[in-house]
Amino acid sequence: MAYYSGDLIEEVISQNDIIDVISEYVTLKKSGRNYMGLCPFHREKTPSFCVSMDKQIFKCFGCSEGGNVITFVMKVENIEFWDAVEMLAERANIDTSRYEVKSYYNKMDSTKKDLKETLFKLNRDVGIFYHNNLIELLKEENNPVKEYIVKRKLDIKTINKFGIGYATGKVPLEQHLSSLGYTKEEMLASGILLESQKNGKMYDRFYSRIMFPIFDIRDRTIAFGGRAFSAKVLDKTIPKYVNSPENEIYFKGKNLYLMNFAKREKLENIIIVEGYMDAIALQKFGFPNAVASLGTALTENQARLIKKYTDNVIIAYDQDEAGQGATMRGLDILVSHGLNVKVLRLDKEDAKDPDEYLNKYGPERLNKCIQNAISLVEFKVSILEKGLNLENFDSKVKFLTGVANILSKIENNIERDLYIDRISQKYGMSPGPILKEVEKGLKNKPSDNLVIDMQTLNKKMQLITNVRKRQEQYIVALLLSRKPKILEEIFSSIKSSDIENEDVRKLFDFILSLKDNYDINKIDILSKIQDEDMIKEITDIMYIDISGYEEKLLQDVLKNKKKEKLFTRRDEILKRLGENISNDEGEILKYELNQIIIELSKLK
Ligand code: UTP
Ligand code: MN
Repeated sequence: MAYYSGDLIEEVISQNDIIDVISEYVTLKKSGRNYMGLCPFHREKTPSFCVSMDKQIFKCFGCSEGGNVITFVMKVENIEFWDAVEMLAERANIDTSRYEVKSYYNKMDSTKKDLKETLFKLNRDVGIFYHNNLIELLKEENNPVKEYIVKRKLDIKTINKFGIGYATGKVPLEQHLSSLGYTKEEMLASGILLESQKNGKMYDRFYSRIMFPIFDIRDRTIAFGGRAFSAKVLDKTIPKYVNSPENEIYFKGKNLYLMNFAKREKLENIIIVEGYMDAIALQKFGFPNAVASLGTALTENQARLIKKYTDNVIIAYDQDEAGQGATMRGLDILVSHGLNVKVLRLDKEDAKDPDEYLNKYGPERLNKCIQNAISLVEFKVSILEKGLNLENFDSKVKFLTGVANILSKIENNIERDLYIDRISQKYGMSPGPILKEVEKGLKNKPSDNLVIDMQTLNKKMQLITNVRKRQEQYIVALLLSRKPKILEEIFSSIKSSDIENEDVRKLFDFILSLKDNYDINKIDILSKIQDEDMIKEITDIMYIDISGYEEKLLQDVLKNKKKEKLFTRRDEILKRLGENISNDEGEILKYELNQIIIELSKLK
């Protein structure tokens, strides 16, 4: 990865409005000058996640996470600082090459970062290795792998585009990677090579498998899936697919297979399938918006990823029981992220997944199925209906109760009523009882009133922050006020050691250290901080609104400071007076004590 000058940070912050960015992940509602929503970093029912448009920061008053747009992306995407900067730069079309510098001034975390960079490169090199293996193999006559590739209708264009390869396991990968300069540790960290417990020798995870490189959204190879093609798959003595383990660069639930090809500015919809072969077949047959969840249930991260590109999802999972079960689990997550979900039904029994269907019946017919995809509610109702004999009284009751349960989760009243009508017609039942049952379900729903006023929040804050700390926070708040005269006065009369609270003191020291190199009144101080605790503290402080009260607050702070000093000195004198001291010293101290008492009474 390239190293960038700090100017890129400020550019990224100014070009990515925090409200826009956070809205891609969290549903925000306006509340005065702020926006409120449900915190993405902890589970909550009533919103305490607050985004400030003016300050371009966020703060959760529930779990205390906070920061600027970069901090948010780091946390929500679980990526490191510079990766978040790059991602936001890309989002705002900033030409990062203009900010590249030769050396990296911030050495923090550099070893970890280097390993990640190496793993991206290593995976790429392994991908090329497997791919070349396959290309060579396709030149042979009567090769079983070649036969399989032909049978699965993988043409050379597709093989090249998706970097499909073959792991022979015969030419040891270790040798190849060593020749490219990778260390044993790096090979093991990738998970592609393993170490034998018995003799310490390295061996390949993938052996005799068709290899599918898995890319991230930025086209980097982060993992592999390998499909066995031998007959042993059928008798289930070996697993059909073997995948890279999760590691520094690969997080299963964060990625969607082929999303790097599917992503476009605004997609009408995204088709989610289960398998590698399904996504490849769809893209090959002219559905570039197909991605695969790779056999696992959809996660919140994947829902957020999709929401960046579209509001509409079509689920095209396998038509078997397992596929239908997986469908159910992932769908509610998609819905809770504001996605519109439809479920595709294949209209032929002899094609269990989109890949088979496409190869048997072609893209036009599949397109018809896509047009006829049913809504999530209809899908759930049809699943419920399966296995129930509606002629039977008990089954009918079970069915109706289930339907009511599904319908009571629909937010929109009109939509809900339309479904009640449609379902009662379809199943020849009167709508009355369903409606009653739905209403019962609605009453038990927790309210999700998104509007909370700032006053309540401030009160909440005050309660958790003690008075002393609050006084010290004011000092930093004043430093952030961008008023040169106030800054000068604080720095001339308050020392770091005057601040008792450690978090606040750290911030004070940090701002003081910035003073030598920057004009603090002009820079974005938050963007210079990478320490988590300090970010939490400064965002707390940034939410304290002192505008218009700066002068008065400064006087208060200085007065309190002076009082504290006098109290300390008073206690010292009283202690000394109790000791065995000379008369002269006693007289002097008593005089001083008198002065202090007068001073203190003036300060009341
Ligand atoms: P499928 O069995 O539906 O695979 O599993 P598929 O992609 O249609 O494969 P073909 O058509 O038989 O070649 C769906 C997905 O579940 C994961 C894989 O990601 C696969 O693509 N899976 C399946 C595994 O990880 N391991 C397995 O053993 C099986
Ligand atoms: Mn398949």
